[in-house]
Amino acid sequence: MKTTLASKILHYIEDHKQFTMSDLYREFGDAYKKHSIRARVYENLKGTVIRTGKGSYILAGAEIEAIVEQADSRKHVFEIKKANIFYDLIFLDVPYRTGGQRGGGSNPKRNMADYNLIDPEEFGEILKAIEGMLRSSNSQVYFMMAGGKSSAPQAQRYIRMFDQTSPQCNDIGSYMKLTSTGKVCNMAQHDMPPEIIMAFSTDGKVRDCTDDGSYRLDFALERPKLARYGGYPTAKPVAMLQQMVAQATEKGQWVLDLFAGSGNMLEAALGVGRKAHLVEICSNAIDNFILPKLHAFHEGNLARRIHRPTLFDHFNFAGSAHV
Ligand SMILES: C[S@@+](CC[C@H](N)C(=O)[O-])C[C@H]1O[C@@H](n2cnc3c(N)ncnc32)[C@H](O)[C@@H]1O
Repeated sequence: MKTTLASKILHYIEDHKQFTMSDLYREFGDAYKKHSIRARVYENLKGTVIRTGKGSYILAGAEIEAIVEQADSRKHVFEIKKANIFYDLIFLDVPYRTGGQRGGGSNPKRNMADYNLIDPEEFGEILKAIEGMLRSSNSQVYFMMAGGKSSAPQAQRYIRMFDQTSPQCNDIGSYMKLTSTGKVCNMAQHDMPPEIIMAFSTDGKVRDCTDDGSYRLDFALERPKLARYGGYPTAKPVAMLQQMVAQATEKGQWVLDLFAGSGNMLEAALGVGRKAHLVEICSNAIDNFILPKLHAFHEGNLARRIHRPTLFDHFNFAGSAHV
């Protein structure tokens, strides 16, 4: 039986579940011209593969458990929207611009790569994009921001951006950082104010899906390891993220984290059988924090093991990554 280029590509896609056009050129480029390869993919675009970004695709219906992308969420959020994936929880732990807060590049102690902080207006554009990516009117958007008096006016500028979109606030909580001895962390002699956590949904209703009915939006937890001890600056506790995921989603549902940082959300979501899509601009975070967690999960070191793991590993979307 004659094996056509189309059937070869299809086999390749079925085996790999995800691919870029460059992968196909590498695989079939010796025998076929690039434009023929592209043409076969485009013919199959509808139904068989889903375009997730420039030149990158996944097999429709494939058992994708995690997508990890290195990209600038301010732009990439529009690519994600085109991919028609719907999310049950969108987590926004934004690198906000507020009093005394500086970007990673300008403050080497924070050990982050160069990136620009997100302005309230840019945040507003992101919110408009994600509005159409929520699976249902009760899908949740969790938003975190510094608390405290000095950052309150600036925090309000970000919170007000929700007024331009349909999700309404359904609950407000907080995250209080504790030391290993259970004391509230302090800055100089002052206790650090808790961070604000806000939950939004289009129907304005709290979602509580946990098996045991537990629901909480207030947390007082030991803060993750500091950067100087090898932790990721601004990392949030896995226990908190896991509670958020468990109450806002059901098993098998999708969580989107547009500012993934340490990738603790990946650990939290996969650990309770959810699927996670992470976007992060900083290569240090991707290489040294997120991907090791993903690989640990695949090795079975995290809470749960999956049968047919497939992932998008470290994609650089042309024109969208500013690293
Ligand atoms: C507040 S931290 C998130 C921490 C994360 N929730 C965790 O638990 O580790 C914000 C993250 O956004 C990333 N970031 C900054 N600008 C970005 C952008 N335009 N697109 C994607 N990620 C960005 C930063 O590198 C940083 O890791």
